[in-house]
Amino acid sequence: MPTDTITTQLAQLKQQIALYNHQYYVLDQPTVPDAEYDRLMRELISIEEQHPSLKSVDSPSQKVGGKALKAFSQVTHQLPMLSLDNVFSEQEWQAFVKRVEDKLAASAAVSYCAEPKLDGLAVSLRYEDGLLVQAATRGDGTSGENITENIRTIKSIPLRLIGENYPEVIEVRGEVFMPKASFDALNERAIKKGEKTFANPRNAAAGSLRQLDSKITAQRNLAFYAYGLGFVSTDGIERWLEDSHFARLQQLKTIGLPICPEIKQLDNHSQCQAFYEDILNRRDELSYEIDGTVIKVNDIAYQEKLGFVARAPRWATAYKFPAQEEITVLEEVEFQVGRTGAITPVARLKPVFVGGVTVSNATLHNQDEIERLGIQVGDTVIIRRAGDVIPQIVSVVLDRRPESAKMIEFPKECPVCQSEVVRNEGEAVLRCTGGLFCGAQRKEAIKHFASRKAFDIDGLGDKLVEQMVDENLIQTPTDLFSLTEIQISTLDRMGKKSALNLLESLMKAKQTTLARFIYSLGIREVGEATASNLANYYLTLETILSANIESLQKVPDVGEIVAKNIVQFFSVQHNVEVIQGLVASGIHWPDIAVKSEDEQPLLDQIFVLTGTLSQMGRSDAKAKLQSLGAKVSGSVSAKTHYLVAGEKAGSKLTKAQDLGVEVLTEDDLVALFTKHDV
Ligand code: IVH
Repeated sequence: MPTDTITTQLAQLKQQIALYNHQYYVLDQPTVPDAEYDRLMRELISIEEQHPSLKSVDSPSQKVGGKALKAFSQVTHQLPMLSLDNVFSEQEWQAFVKRVEDKLAASAAVSYCAEPKLDGLAVSLRYEDGLLVQAATRGDGTSGENITENIRTIKSIPLRLIGENYPEVIEVRGEVFMPKASFDALNERAIKKGEKTFANPRNAAAGSLRQLDSKITAQRNLAFYAYGLGFVSTDGIERWLEDSHFARLQQLKTIGLPICPEIKQLDNHSQCQAFYEDILNRRDELSYEIDGTVIKVNDIAYQEKLGFVARAPRWATAYKFPAQEEITVLEEVEFQVGRTGAITPVARLKPVFVGGVTVSNATLHNQDEIERLGIQVGDTVIIRRAGDVIPQIVSVVLDRRPESAKMIEFPKECPVCQSEVVRNEGEAVLRCTGGLFCGAQRKEAIKHFASRKAFDIDGLGDKLVEQMVDENLIQTPTDLFSLTEIQISTLDRMGKKSALNLLESLMKAKQTTLARFIYSLGIREVGEATASNLANYYLTLETILSANIESLQKVPDVGEIVAKNIVQFFSVQHNVEVIQGLVASGIHWPDIAVKSEDEQPLLDQIFVLTGTLSQMGRSDAKAKLQSLGAKVSGSVSAKTHYLVAGEKAGSKLTKAQDLGVEVLTEDDLVALFTKHDV
């Protein structure tokens, strides 16, 4: 092929790919499937490999990283990179508003641009004649590190601006960050390889940008949103700059730079307070970490009037969320024994206010986790509580380790019943071998027995169970049914009335279902759905009790491990005695009617469920389908009759479509259940 034809072809390809990148990263509206994009990329790379001289700096193929550097050079920012002042409460926010609005003495309400405060690193991108020529960190605000090679690997940053209408020189300021999903994936890979994990997405983003080898940065899936401008040349371009901050950001979007979709232009300061509250509520749903909002006076003329103090503008402030990470001290480690004997180390912390609540405990999970953190009693630790998530210890502040710090020793025997402790092969947890002889396991077993999805015993809370076991009133669930009014009313906070109420709920609870009965036994890994499958398959308690491993594996959802757990449970004499005792105390359930064929309208129809169902859980949907006679399989094949596709259905949906399998929506499934009355 003649060179000029190749040059044209290459230019077209580059333009096409840049357009798709823009649609994907900036507009959030991809127009072609990923496969088509990949095909064009491969084509581009192959041409460039055959004609290396045609490879250019703005080629989309350059996103994979280049030669490693020895050190970063320094770059002086043409205009300084400023920082922001913070406000931490509504009161401080009101004070900011007052300062601003008094100084402006405006006749109408002041409009603001409200943005999420992205938790990453500030960078400045310099484009000359539309080409990305330099990228730098903020550094001390006057000069920073030249990280151009690393920035070039970030997929959402255009190497060339879009269109024709941009200034000859433009410095774009914005935040490089690591989306939560990329962060989780990165840490998961690190754990698998036994490498150190990053404490949070911000550190991960910083660590990734500071790589001298841009090939590593390229693998880290960083992202970027623009939030402002640095130097902009005005020569040769007419009135390019809009006169509000919000309009300028929109303008950046038109030339190819991604901006955060949450950014809003607001008419007055009250709306900013509402924006802050709304974003705080939705914080966990966002795909990236934020630590507050940034509120900026929108009108550029007003910004100029307000000016700067020291290193921060008077026209903007960061309105921060309460901290999600705090520092505290690990005072002690206690070991808790769970229902199945698992021994969990629990960190007792010096109480600390974090993520909106006071935290004094955190789980340390298991021995592996303690080793990974390298944590000792007495250490200063970073603790994190994000949203409703259980508090986690993120890392140890090693340089604050006191000389008196002590290694965490794992118990050699159960801290509750002194039975032997074992670590089963392939498991990270230690377990007490005491079974129901162990007071802790007994308490947990009875709590489970009384819980809502099991016997649902009204008025029998965790604290009451603990007291009853401690006072030796009950040893097993069976004993619950022979409790007397006098015994109950002697317990703390229990009078005659509550004793009678509890006896009444115990009476009521005796009428149950076989599925609940099986679930209430607390057999390892036999949850609600498995218990229900066992009941529907075997129909009576006796047949379940005598089922062998082979037979059990025919039950939907039961694999070898679960089958072994079940057989093991029923082989323990004590457990059989408890079951007999329960039945003898009058616990009963209706017979399960064997469904005739016409009551199983979906007999032998194979269903596959994929994507997220919003109106029911997956195991619910599965159990209902099975009750109608259907089989529910995990993968799509030519034998599949129906694929139920929930939200974000992926490859299974594509495969079903390719194979011509009928696809049902969640609404179709609900209609099917309504029709058959399940
Ligand atoms: S504007 C002159 N907008 O916060 C104003 N900064 O605490 C300069 N940041 O260094 C910054 N999200 O790294 C601005 N929407 C946003 C931001 C934001 C995050 C960071 C940025 C800055 C730091 C100041």
